[in-house]
Amino acid sequence: MTTTPTGLSRRHFLHALGVTGGAGAVLGAMETLGVTPAASAHTMAFSAPRSGDFTLQGRSNGKRVVVLGAGVAGLAAAYELTKGGYRVYVLEASRRVGGRNWTARRGDISVESDGTRQRAQFDRGQYMNMGPARIPQHHTTIEYCRELGVELEVFANANASGYYYNQPAGNVSGPLASTPVRHRQAKADLFGYTSELLAKAVSAGSLDAELSASDKEQLIGYLRSFGAINTSNTYTGSSRAGYPEDAEPGGWFDTGTPNPPLDLSALLASGVGRNFSFEAGWDQAMLMFQPVGGMDAIPTALAEQLPLGVNYGAAVTRIENTSTGVTVSYSQNATTRRIDADYCICTIPPQVMTGIDSNFSAQVKADLAVPVGNNVGKVGQQYKRRFWETDDGIMGGITNTNMDIGTIWYPSSGYLGEKGVVVGSYNFGGNATAFGNLSPAERIERTVQRGSLIHGDAYRSELETGFTVAWHKMPLQKGGWVSWPSGTQGGPDTPYGRLTEPAGNVYFAGDHMSHVIAWQHGAFESARKSVTALHARALAS
Ligand code: ALA
Repeated sequence: MTTTPTGLSRRHFLHALGVTGGAGAVLGAMETLGVTPAASAHTMAFSAPRSGDFTLQGRSNGKRVVVLGAGVAGLAAAYELTKGGYRVYVLEASRRVGGRNWTARRGDISVESDGTRQRAQFDRGQYMNMGPARIPQHHTTIEYCRELGVELEVFANANASGYYYNQPAGNVSGPLASTPVRHRQAKADLFGYTSELLAKAVSAGSLDAELSASDKEQLIGYLRSFGAINTSNTYTGSSRAGYPEDAEPGGWFDTGTPNPPLDLSALLASGVGRNFSFEAGWDQAMLMFQPVGGMDAIPTALAEQLPLGVNYGAAVTRIENTSTGVTVSYSQNATTRRIDADYCICTIPPQVMTGIDSNFSAQVKADLAVPVGNNVGKVGQQYKRRFWETDDGIMGGITNTNMDIGTIWYPSSGYLGEKGVVVGSYNFGGNATAFGNLSPAERIERTVQRGSLIHGDAYRSELETGFTVAWHKMPLQKGGWVSWPSGTQGGPDTPYGRLTEPAGNVYFAGDHMSHVIAWQHGAFESARKSVTALHARALAS
């Protein structure tokens, strides 16, 4: 059997690349293996396969596809189909691209399902990402940014100088509740104390059944480094905890005196340590990224690649499979119009689809009714002074709270500038429901009241204007993302599994049709699956 230098069989190697990297990756690998003329002539350098390397093979001879929704999934599908030679028509009910990928700027208008109306008053150049706002470095989203020339910058998803702030509630109590504690201090002290406890237990022989003598020695060595404990296995404090402002090390005789360790019981009771795991998450670990100038750079760049553009203000009213393809009716400028196509890719959220007429089977309609839109809200505040930088020494990143605002996000751009937009609230579930039931002014007032407990008077006095979203009240989204009820997002016999199959000539795409819900990656990956299936069928027909 022919093998690669790594010992994989050639067929398996190509197959593995084909699965993960698309046909373009297979071609690249063939060149590496000396299968193609290009490689035999040694004229092309090997380019490592990337997850963005997606190419439809074969031409479609101009078959027509109508894509419903100009969010990330719809635009990605339209972009890839266009590259594959399809004539692609995108219908979008709103007047902008992006769907939930919405960067609010001055003059943007939002109307919620109960008529609640807002107009963004941010200064020109200030903005807020109302939906997606961070991109993990391993997501396909990054590959599309590379392909489309969307410039990225680091999004600070963690900052040692950010705060943990928990109020007494549930299992939170004690003297540190209602006291902002810097991430660096909470981590230094809790890592130190837990290392001390474990090292002492190991030394005392409490874990002899689990550990060899060598394991014990190695583990204690690790804990001394991890927790900054001394040779007596005791945590006595660490410079990792930071310094009081008037006791920092510096020039001449300024040796510095670190913050003394906080009390272990108080730290445990405050619950701050329960936040530590967040930044280890597969999708949340640094480094993370954002497009320079706003997340909507991604849908904007995708839309620019579409020769037929996007048909805005086109609200779909009926989807009908016909004997030759599909007919979509839509309302535009108070007129009902129709478009015929060979196929349709429908990215309208399922919880919105339940209100749109179709001749889908009863089973498809029932399956579309299964996923549930999640309540999600954000409140953004433009400040005339970046007090979090000047007064708190926080250069981007996040403050975590157990209050109804959820988290506070400091901007990861415009550092040292004059103004900035802080996301003062990003919440889910019951907290988002409660916020959504308030007027925008009340949402902002509540957010400012909560944040003032951490940042003091500046959080109110420096405020210029705010803007909010309650995604579950946005008529075209009806949720920040969806949840599939337990057991419904499984194999071919589940509602989700059935919806991976086309309903006649209609394919369903969107992050809800992925296992990476609430991320643009899920939208991209789902769009690729639909496009691949549609293309295989079109070529075979
Ligand atoms: N992907 C969303 C976030 O990072 C849920 O907050």
